[in-house]
Order: sequence, then C-alpha cells, then structure tokens
Amino acid sequence: MSTTGADFIVVANRLSVDLERLDDGTQRWKHSPGGLVTALEPFLRSRSGAWVGWPGLADQDVAPFEQGSLQLHPIALSSAEVRDYYEGFSNATLWPLYHDVVAPPVFERSWWESYVKVNRRFADACASIANKGATVWVQDYQLQLVPALLREQRPDLRIGFFLHIPFPPVELFMQLPWRTEIIRGLLGADLVGFHRPGGAQNFLWLARRLVGLEPSRGAVGVRTRPGVVQVGDRTVRVGAFPISIDAAGLDAIARGRQTQQRARQIRAELGNPKKIMLGVDRLDYTKGIDVRLRALHELLSEERIAAEDVVMVQLATPSRERIEHYQQMRSEIEQVVGRINGEFSRVGRPAVHYLHQSVDRRELCAFMSAADVMLVTPVRDGMNLVCKEYVACRYDLGGALVLSEFAGAASELTSAFLVNPHDLDGVKNAILAALTVDPAEGRRRMRALRRQVLTHDVDRWARSFLEALGTGPVH
Ligand code: ADP
Ligand code: G6P
Repeated sequence: MSTTGADFIVVANRLSVDLERLDDGTQRWKHSPGGLVTALEPFLRSRSGAWVGWPGLADQDVAPFEQGSLQLHPIALSSAEVRDYYEGFSNATLWPLYHDVVAPPVFERSWWESYVKVNRRFADACASIANKGATVWVQDYQLQLVPALLREQRPDLRIGFFLHIPFPPVELFMQLPWRTEIIRGLLGADLVGFHRPGGAQNFLWLARRLVGLEPSRGAVGVRTRPGVVQVGDRTVRVGAFPISIDAAGLDAIARGRQTQQRARQIRAELGNPKKIMLGVDRLDYTKGIDVRLRALHELLSEERIAAEDVVMVQLATPSRERIEHYQQMRSEIEQVVGRINGEFSRVGRPAVHYLHQSVDRRELCAFMSAADVMLVTPVRDGMNLVCKEYVACRYDLGGALVLSEFAGAASELTSAFLVNPHDLDGVKNAILAALTVDPAEGRRRMRALRRQVLTHDVDRWARSFLEALGTGPVH
C-alpha cells in the first residue's frame, strides 16, 4: 500500500467495512451497519482519499489497506475502550441524550475519560496521514473532540464536522457534565454541519452560552451571528445539510429484471397476501419498531384488518447487542411478535415475519419493491435513510410510505402519510389510510416524494458540504 499522505480524509468511528469473526475462527470483511456508511460509501467509492475508522472488533491491530482508490486506516480499540468509549459514552450517554432522552442517559466519568483518549487517538492518526493543507471530514457523535484536537496539532488543515444524529434541545444538552468540552471540541472545525436548521441554532446558542467568555477576562472571545461563530480570529461556519442516499443507484437496481423477479418471489413466498407491510431498521429503541407492532396488533384485534389479507415483514439488523437498553428492547419486540403470531397466524402463514438479520442491497430493493406499505415510525431520528430508499425503489409509483414526523426526513417527504409515533390511534389510522389509498392518489404522493429524493441525493449533499467548507468536490 502506498505510504504517501492523503489530501482528503474521512474519519468516522467505523470504517466502511466491518471485520467479522466466523465460528470456524476465520475472519472476513462485511459492509458496516447504519446510515453513515450507506451515505458516505457511494460518494467516496469513485474518489481517492483515506478513511480512518475502527474495524469493528476489539483488540485488532489491522494494517492500513486499500479498497478501490480509498486507503483504509484501521484504528485499534481495546476491549475496555469498546466498553467505555463505544458502548458506554457514545451509545449509552450521547445516543440517548441526543435522541430526546428516549432512554435515560448514563453519566459515567470513566467512560468520558475513555472518550477523550480514543478521540485523541483518531486525531493523532489523521494528523499523521494528512498532507499539508488537506481536508479532513470528521463524522458523528463518537468523535466530537477530534476537530479541536486535530487543529491543535495541524492548524494548516481544513476541518469539517458533520453530525449524523439529531443535535438535542439545549435544555437536554445542558445535562451533560462535559457539555463545554464537547462544544469546544466541535468549534475546532471550520464548518459544523447538522441535518436540520434547529440543530444548527441549538449549537450556536450553546457556543455563545458555554464558550462565549468575555475578552476582558483574558480569554479568547466567542461571538455568534446566524450561521457563524467567531472564535478569536477564526471563523467557524454552522449550517444544515440534510443527508441523502445514492437515489439513482437504487432506482437502477429496483428497475432490474432480477430485482422485480425476486420481488414477485417474495410475494409468493409470503402467500400472495393482498398487502405487504415492511419495516427495515437497525434494532434500535429510537426506531419505534414496537410502535408499529402495537398498531398492527390493535388493528388485527379490532378486525379493522385481517391476517389473511395483510402480512408484515420486519427486517432488523442486530445492533449494539451488549448494551442493556438494546437487550431489553429486543426481548420486548420479540414478545410482541410472538404474541401477534400466537393470536393471528395460521399454520404456514405467520402474521409477522421477523428477521433479526441484515440483507444485502439487492435483496433489500426487492423487499422494498414488494412492499405495499413501508412503515418508518421512529420516535426520534436525525434523518432516516430507509424512507428515502423506499421512495428511490418505487419507480413504478406504487407503494405508500408511513413516516414519523420525528424523523428528519419528514420535513422533505411531506407527501408521505405523516404520523406522530406517540399517538397510537393516529398511527393505526395512517396505516389503514396507506393500505387503502386510492391508486391515483397513491401515485400522486409517490411522484412528489420521488421528485424530492431523486433531485436531492447524497452526491448533492456531500458537494454542498464540501463547497461550504471551502473545498471543491474531491476526485
Ligand atoms: P441508522 O443510521 O440509525 O441505522 P438509517 O435509516 O439512516 O438509520 O440508515 C440505516 C441503513 O441501514 C439504511 O441504508 C438501511 O437500508 C440499512 N439497513 C437497516 N436495517 C437493515 C437490514 N435489516 N438489512 C439491510 N439493510 C438494513
Ligand atoms: C448510526 C450512527 C452511525 C453508526 C450507525 C451504526 O447511523 O449515526 O455513526 O455507525 O448508526 O451503529 P454502530 O454503533 O453499529 O456503529
């Protein structure tokens, strides 16, 4: 592999590929889970640069390697760091705090110490491979200290930061004992990006409140105005950049003969029901998988729908399985699935097909092509790419999308059947409306959704971020 430095570096907690240990002791690389990699991978595939990230297993020292024109630089984490930095501070403190405290965040000092240490390791790795004047694009909540740590060592770099999850309301953020350190960490960037303007506004308010020390007290002054924070003589830009997907790529896969054949086969395998409903998520408590299952259970119990006519499929990627809240939620969901199937299935015809597994992209497209109704019901989600993927797959203008108002995507996808996931009756009514929508009205809605998704793809998102960062598109 080449030892030259890089002019463009993406740094994220995970690499685009994930090391998996198989039962026979061998290892292999697979696609990493989650929306961050889904979004960035197609954008970076055809470009040269470096990706710095964790390979997904503890205690693994993996040498840098190349994938296409991308150099991958694995960062090793010990098992204690996986526990404290990744499962602890990132996913049991920040994740619930930033998702409206849907679960109570845990504030644990040793986790914070590990977060600082690991963020420093990522920053050091970037500093050592970045060419002079290079652009470094730091991703997500696991690495919020990296911008400032990197700037200390390498003021020559252009540093961007993008948060892939919601940035919380200030009252919630203020609970964090290390709130000032996080804001200072982010202010090391030249551009800080969020999905929604509300996140950018919250950040600007916090920068003024937490770091806006008076110059007369001998500190560097921080002043904010819309979209800009002045940190001493440095200007930090702050803005909203709603992320998206490789819409044309999915549209092309969906149009393929094999995908359509597989969609028909899936339908047949499900017993050719009148309607198929689909959920596709990481198994995460923010996704509202329980909400849609409860709605289904009540609709069946009240005989507003019948299990002979409507079948539900839930694909759930295993996620963060050692964290207690994830374990609890998994067992709750599996109980509800068991209950629905116990009450409403017939032999060979389950009412809910629940697959605790991940499927590949083509199979996913086939499921989305087969689904009459897509259920996306998170109680909070930064953006949610699944709903955009569904729209990209429906070149036939078929299908109906039920979408939570609490997903960032709701402000773009206004022609979906929008629901408040806390209002179970509202969710049930929206599901019924989607199941029975008049075909012409369904096509009208899908056409409007597709206009938005196909013209606002991930390439446009990345270009607009990098242009705002002051660096043109990277090739
Ligand atoms: P998050 O990033 O929180 O997981 P997103 O909706 O933004 O949520 O992105 C999830 C990504 O993971 C999407 O690209 C989606 O297609 C993919 N995904 C989720 N569950 C599965 C699954 N069971 N099989 C295959 N892909 C999945
Ligand atoms: C979300 C986060 C990503 C994360 C992904 C998968 O998309 O924004 O940063 O990588 O979920 O979660 P995991 O904990 O498996 O990396």
